[in-house]
Amino acid sequence: MSNTQPAPVASQRTQLKARKVSFAWEKTPLHWVPGDPFATHTINVLHLLLPAGERWFIHVYRQVLPYIHDEQLRQDVIGFIGQEAVHSQAHDDVLPRLKQLGLDPTPYTAQVDWLFEKLLGDRTLPPGRARKWWLMERVATIAAIEHYTAFLGDWVLNADELDRRGADPTMLDLLRWHGAEEVEHRSVAFDVFMHVDGGYRRRVRTWAAAFAALLFLWQRGTRFFMENDPSLLHGKASFKEFYISGRRGTLPATGDLLRSIPRYLSHAYHPSQEGSTAQAVDYLAHSPAATAAEARMTGTS
Ligand SMILES: [Fe+2]
Ligand SMILES: [Fe+2]
Repeated sequence: MSNTQPAPVASQRTQLKARKVSFAWEKTPLHWVPGDPFATHTINVLHLLLPAGERWFIHVYRQVLPYIHDEQLRQDVIGFIGQEAVHSQAHDDVLPRLKQLGLDPTPYTAQVDWLFEKLLGDRTLPPGRARKWWLMERVATIAAIEHYTAFLGDWVLNADELDRRGADPTMLDLLRWHGAEEVEHRSVAFDVFMHVDGGYRRRVRTWAAAFAALLFLWQRGTRFFMENDPSLLHGKASFKEFYISGRRGTLPATGDLLRSIPRYLSHAYHPSQEGSTAQAVDYLAHSPAATAAEARMTGTS
C-alpha cells in the first residue's frame, strides 16, 4: 500500500513540541502593516481560515493514528497535533480584537466552520472501503495544504519588508512563531500521506482541490475585510494589488507561489527539501511569545 518515497533530508528533522504561547492584542492597530490595508487584510485571512482548518487537521489525524505503524512517525503526528491545537487557538484569539476594531468576522467564519465541519467532516459512511477512502482523501488534502503553510511560514520568516514598514511586533511574532512551527513540522503531513496511501493520482487530485479552494477562500476573505473595513470608503481587493504587494515584499510573490506548484507535484518532492529547520528553530529560540511560554513551562518567569 505505501508508495516509494523520496528520502527526507535528515538534517531537517527535529523533535516537535507544542509551545503554549499567548499574545496581548490591546495595542495592535487595525492596519497592523502601517498604511497598507490590503497587505494587512490579505494576511488577516489566516485568522479566519486557520482556527477551523487546523481543528479539522486534528480531527482527521486522530482517526488516522491507528493506520500508522511507524513509531517515529506516530510521535511526529502527536507533536503535530499538539502544535496545530495551539495555532488554531492563537488565531482564534485575534478575532475579538478585530471585532473591537470594527471588523466582525462572524459572517465569514460561520461559512468556514461549515466547510470544515460539514463538507469536509465525517460523512455517514458505512465502516469499510468508503469510510477509508474518505479518510485518505482528507489525509492527502492536509498534505497539500501543509505544503502551503510551510511555504507561507518560510515566507514570513524572511519577510524583512514587514519589519522595514514597522509592522506590529505582536502580529509579526504570532505569524513568525506559527510560521516557524509550520517549517519545523512541514514533513509530517506528507510523510503520513505517503505512509498510509501515497497514490500519485490522489496527490494531484487533492492538490488541485485544495489549491482552488484556498484561492477562492483567500480572495473572498480579503474582499470581505476590505469591504467591511470601517476606515475605508471603497475598499477593494484585486489580483493586481496582490501582484504588486508581492513585488514589494509585503506579501508572497506570485512567481514564488506559481513555482511551488510543480515542486509539490514532482515525483522527487519531499517537504524537507524546502525551507530551513535551523532558521525556524533559531526564530523560536528568540520569539518573545515562545520564550515566554518556555519560561512559564519551566517556572522561570
Ligand atoms: Fe499550523
Ligand atoms: Fe501545520
